[in-house]
Amino acid sequence: MPVRTIIEPFRIKSVEPIYGALSTERRRLLEAAGYNLFLVPSEAILIDLLTDSGTAAMSTDQWAAVMRGDESYAGSPSFTRFRDAIQSIFGFRHVIPTHQGRAAERILFSVMCKKGDIVPNNTHFDTTRANCEYAGAEALDLPIPEAKEPSRMHPFKGNMDTAGLAEVIERHGAKKIPLVMLTITNNSGGGQPVSMENIRSVKEICKKHGIPLYIDACRFAENAYFIKLREPGYADKRPREIAREIFSHADGCTMSAKKDGMANIGGFLCTNDDLLAQQEKDLLILTEGFPTYGGLAGRDLEAIAVGLNEALEEEYLKYRIASTAFLGNHIGSEGVPIVQPPGGHAIYLDARAFLPHIPPSQFPGVALANELYLEGGIRSVEIGTLMFGEHATMDLVRLAIPRRVYTQSHIEYVVEVILEVWRRREQIRGYAILHQAKFLRHFTARLQPSPLNTL
Ligand SMILES: Cc1ncc(COP(=O)(O)O)c(C=O)c1O
Repeated sequence: MPVRTIIEPFRIKSVEPIYGALSTERRRLLEAAGYNLFLVPSEAILIDLLTDSGTAAMSTDQWAAVMRGDESYAGSPSFTRFRDAIQSIFGFRHVIPTHQGRAAERILFSVMCKKGDIVPNNTHFDTTRANCEYAGAEALDLPIPEAKEPSRMHPFKGNMDTAGLAEVIERHGAKKIPLVMLTITNNSGGGQPVSMENIRSVKEICKKHGIPLYIDACRFAENAYFIKLREPGYADKRPREIAREIFSHADGCTMSAKKDGMANIGGFLCTNDDLLAQQEKDLLILTEGFPTYGGLAGRDLEAIAVGLNEALEEEYLKYRIASTAFLGNHIGSEGVPIVQPPGGHAIYLDARAFLPHIPPSQFPGVALANELYLEGGIRSVEIGTLMFGEHATMDLVRLAIPRRVYTQSHIEYVVEVILEVWRRREQIRGYAILHQAKFLRHFTARLQPSPLNTL
């Protein structure tokens, strides 16, 4: 009989105790944190699903590589291993290390964009948008229409609207568009993948107009595996081959190695353009460091070189995608509204549908995230009205799964807690803001439960 259980393809060699706070203490801690989970100390969290970025567990091979790290300022062999690992997967001529993804974005946009330019993307991640706008350009999101409906099923909901892209180029002219970007998987759109067909079509449009295509590659391995699972013609290909094909259509990429680099810090910028690479390295020296370390220690370069290859291992990807889907499917089948289908790195709860009695002005996403903490010590993050203000079109709660950190029983516990909160959803109240910063208010805002329920 074939075995159907998908197991974690690793065993545990070193453990980190999680105590969390007692359920009786959680209310007091949350109140002291102004009902903002960013302000709760991490020791008081039992299961931390705030982010999948920089939170991965490193493997024995990565730790061994860390010991090999050569900390020479210039010409370190750790850089050579880092560059070779990246070139063998991504295939780009120039590899520029950075301390994390947003540093790669800042350098890319500073060199390529000027005031009045437009940068289309399926959906810009918030640091990508901010860096693009900081360089004076407009960050334009062009997701397919299906991406805007949380409950709508689509195998490649991260795709770019190619007709929209062609129309934007037609309307503004290629001169105003220094590059087009594709974010794989599409984090802000629910961790949804982009198909190879879509990547190819976007490239064709770019090529026709002489516009370079860059990929925001943070979750490239997860995207490659979704292509294998869902796109005709790829079932027999290895994730590595699929990744090579993805990047063969691009002129460069930005990468946060804190995701599919399986590292706790790091990133890089790649390009095939010699002139751009020179300008990028000049800028790199100004703020990040010499081009053979770019703000990273030699040991970080080593950990990333190994991690990128581990992220492409088929058994790992099978477990990774199955584990996220297990969470999504088990709560979805009980009626809990989520962004469908389950994404690669996270499950997104639709807080407006979960708590229809709480209007967006009373932050249903914050209310739901706080309730998950009170019920089971789980930390998640609101992506909605607190984060985006009046621009928010949805109120979501993201449960991001750190790589190789939690086991099946942890995920089962999360399912149980969500279902308990779902059962008593009508008693949950909204919140009002007591204090907020001028920018990025969600990080530091202090709130209080709304006095009146608007039922
Ligand atoms: C799609 C995407 N792009 C860029 C970044 C920025 O990377 P970093 O946090 O390493 O600066 C992130 C981080 O979450 C991301 O998800």
